[in-house]
Amino acid sequence: MRKITRIGLFGFGCVGRGLYDVLNQSQGMEADIVSICVKDKNKTRSLPADYFTYDKSDVLNNPNINLVVELIDNADEAFEIVTEALQKGKSVVSANKKMIAEHFEELYNLQRVFGSSLLYEGSSCGSIPIIRTLEEYYDNELLNSVQGIFNGTTNYILTKVAQEGIDYDTALHQAQELGFAESDPTLDVQGYDALYKACIVAAHAFGVFVKPADVFCYGIPAVGTEDVRIARERGMKIKLLATIRKTENQLAVFVMPAFVDSANHLYKVDNEYNGVFVEGVYSDGQFFQGKGAGSYPTGSAVLSDVSAQSYNYRYEYKKHRLEQQLSYGTDLNLRVYLRYADESLLQHFPFRHVYERHYEPDRNFNYLIGDINLQDLLNINNLRELPVFIALMPDVLSKI
Ligand SMILES: NC(=O)c1ccc[n+]([C@@H]2O[C@H](COP(=O)([O-])OP(=O)(O)OC[C@H]3O[C@@H](n4cnc5c(N)ncnc54)[C@H](OP(=O)(O)O)[C@@H]3O)[C@@H](O)[C@H]2O)c1
Repeated sequence: MRKITRIGLFGFGCVGRGLYDVLNQSQGMEADIVSICVKDKNKTRSLPADYFTYDKSDVLNNPNINLVVELIDNADEAFEIVTEALQKGKSVVSANKKMIAEHFEELYNLQRVFGSSLLYEGSSCGSIPIIRTLEEYYDNELLNSVQGIFNGTTNYILTKVAQEGIDYDTALHQAQELGFAESDPTLDVQGYDALYKACIVAAHAFGVFVKPADVFCYGIPAVGTEDVRIARERGMKIKLLATIRKTENQLAVFVMPAFVDSANHLYKVDNEYNGVFVEGVYSDGQFFQGKGAGSYPTGSAVLSDVSAQSYNYRYEYKKHRLEQQLSYGTDLNLRVYLRYADESLLQHFPFRHVYERHYEPDRNFNYLIGDINLQDLLNINNLRELPVFIALMPDVLSKI
């Protein structure tokens, strides 16, 4: 039976305000925002002052509030708020991918011990309902892989570099002016945002809890217009992809740029859009596309969780609970493109096999295409500081 939802909201920024608006427009939801906890006492607010508090205990200890919605921008403070709410037996909705990915196991255990429920559809791929789809629709389906464009900012930048011939810095500046990228865009462009989402998706698709720190994550700041030209000449586009792929008893997870050909559904996912391709053993391939971020797309994903909480929906984590042999691993050969200025740089990359080499030493523009092991990539400590660009080549993953 549906209960009347009385919400205590943490955060009234981009997503918090989006939730407020979509909730007010929605029909059939018996839900009210009772109190909003924010941080900055000097900010002008667009709602009457009696909505707001600056003390988290006003929300967490309010017996009239039966749902905490956590939408703040600080992962450590969010973890404290969510932990306390779950311990008090309150249901929680959050969109904080960093907090959830970094504390996945603790949050899973808190729900089991205290019987409270945490939902987080808004944390991964914005308006694409990927978590509940994996959890409910694919609950008994064996999956081979989930691969996607999980970050709208980097997809916008890569689209502009390819379509308008502008360089990375100019495209990033445009993304910031349009509000897609943060003023500190590190989490987006270095791939961490996609990495957190990949860890959350891996848990629901395959039942494996993967720690973000263990995953190979390489972003797009090194991409050059020459790399984009090489991709175009081969009929491809460069996209930042998150890959979660099962090989026998191993689950590999990695985030890196990839050359994507036109046979791949993700090829057509441009600008700030996200796309997810799910490949099942029996269901074959399914493709999902939608806005990856923003006030209303994310607000609507949060609203969907608020609605689900009203009929006591909770994630069962069935795939994790099933006795299974699958564990996280990095023993996987990847076929990659490596562009480098100087031959001496190759010493960092223990290629197993090289298929193609291109030399233009007078322009400091050389590249090769070859197979390298994922663990060997993880072992390169200073990869981001090297004057190279590395990207996955299409559909040529193989176990050794
Ligand atoms: N923006 C997106 O498109 C998007 C998409 C998916 C997921 N998310 C996630 O959604 C969450 C919110 O993002 P956002 O873009 O809405 O952030 P935002 O616009 O920067 O707003 C953050 C809000 O959190 C409040 N806040 C910060 N620390 C607080 C604390 N300790 N206690 C109470 N309130 C606090 C701020 O208060 P003041 O108003 O007083 O400054 C502000 O209202 C993040 O976890 C983000 O990763 C965002």
